[in-house]
Amino acid sequence: MLTLAIETSCDETSCAVVKDGREVLSNIISSQIEIHKKFGGVVPEIASRKHIESIDNILQEALDTAGVTFKDIDLIAVTQGPGLVGALLVGLSTAKALAYGLDIPIIGVNHIEGHVCANFIEHKELEPPFTCLIVSGGHTYLVQANEYTDYELIGRTRDDAAGEAFDKVARSIGLPYPGGPHIDKMAKVGNKDAIDFPRVIIDEHTYDFSFSGLKTAVLNHLNQSKQKGEEIVVEDVAASFQQAVLDVLVDKSFRLAKERNQDKIVIAGGVAANEGLRTMMKERGKKEGIQIYYPSRVLCTDNAAMIGAAGYYNYINGKVSDLGMNVMPNLDIK
Ligand code: KG4
Ligand code: ZN
Repeated sequence: MLTLAIETSCDETSCAVVKDGREVLSNIISSQIEIHKKFGGVVPEIASRKHIESIDNILQEALDTAGVTFKDIDLIAVTQGPGLVGALLVGLSTAKALAYGLDIPIIGVNHIEGHVCANFIEHKELEPPFTCLIVSGGHTYLVQANEYTDYELIGRTRDDAAGEAFDKVARSIGLPYPGGPHIDKMAKVGNKDAIDFPRVIIDEHTYDFSFSGLKTAVLNHLNQSKQKGEEIVVEDVAASFQQAVLDVLVDKSFRLAKERNQDKIVIAGGVAANEGLRTMMKERGKKEGIQIYYPSRVLCTDNAAMIGAAGYYNYINGKVSDLGMNVMPNLDIK
């Protein structure tokens, strides 16, 4: 079964052809990062316009790379939400036109679920149930995946997403957008014990997260150091900040996995590309007998192949959308 998938929820225009949910025949990603960089973040109106400009070409490239034509496609999968409304509309409208023209089924996919499914592409043996940490620029969720299409929401951020915190802190120490990868690199050479930033709500009996207090603590540290005329070692700030985020993410993930008797933890989303997070998860997993899974870097950040995987599993489990569906910018995980 061949799925043609489309992802346009934020600043990546991506189309992919996925066979039977797990085999990627093509995954073309056109990033707008260079355009948004000078504004320090994604400008929604510009994102929509750029999606319109590139979607046709990306679509054709996805088919060509996979060595197939429209006639070979059995299912259209498209990100329905969450995301930027104008950006989502470009992908959804394209998907509807294709499904109507080709007379094949269409399925609207939850972008967050897509991030989780990137792991099915990478790890052919991976099957639910597992505990899953989803950390991206817009979302921070701790979920229990019971089935391919059954996600139990256990914890979420109460304010900023983890990736958002990385991006904001990066900006405050003069790093370009998106800051996550830059902090990751810098943290490797900095001292993670240099500054004792708060581990927000780590001890509270909740699986929720909060990162805005940590972000403020970093800004206060920078301002106070400046006022006192002290030298700011940005590498130490990056390493200490990253460690404060990771301590909370890792601790809560393992607590949930143990509470649910799980022997697998899956991480997903842009921040799952973080070297520090991967290493810390693996080391603790080894100690506690829990297997850790994460996708390769390109499948961590936004891409259409993960949408194809999620669309396939929803479809074979009886879900299908109709052409009357609309985008859902605030769609949540169940
Ligand atoms: O999943 P994604 O591409 O988009 C959303 O759905 O939000 O995630 C993008 C986020 C950005 O905040 C970016 O800074 C972060 O993922 N990110 C990282 C790393 N690579 C990307 N954060 C920390 N370390 C990284 N290596
Ligand atoms: Zn995403």
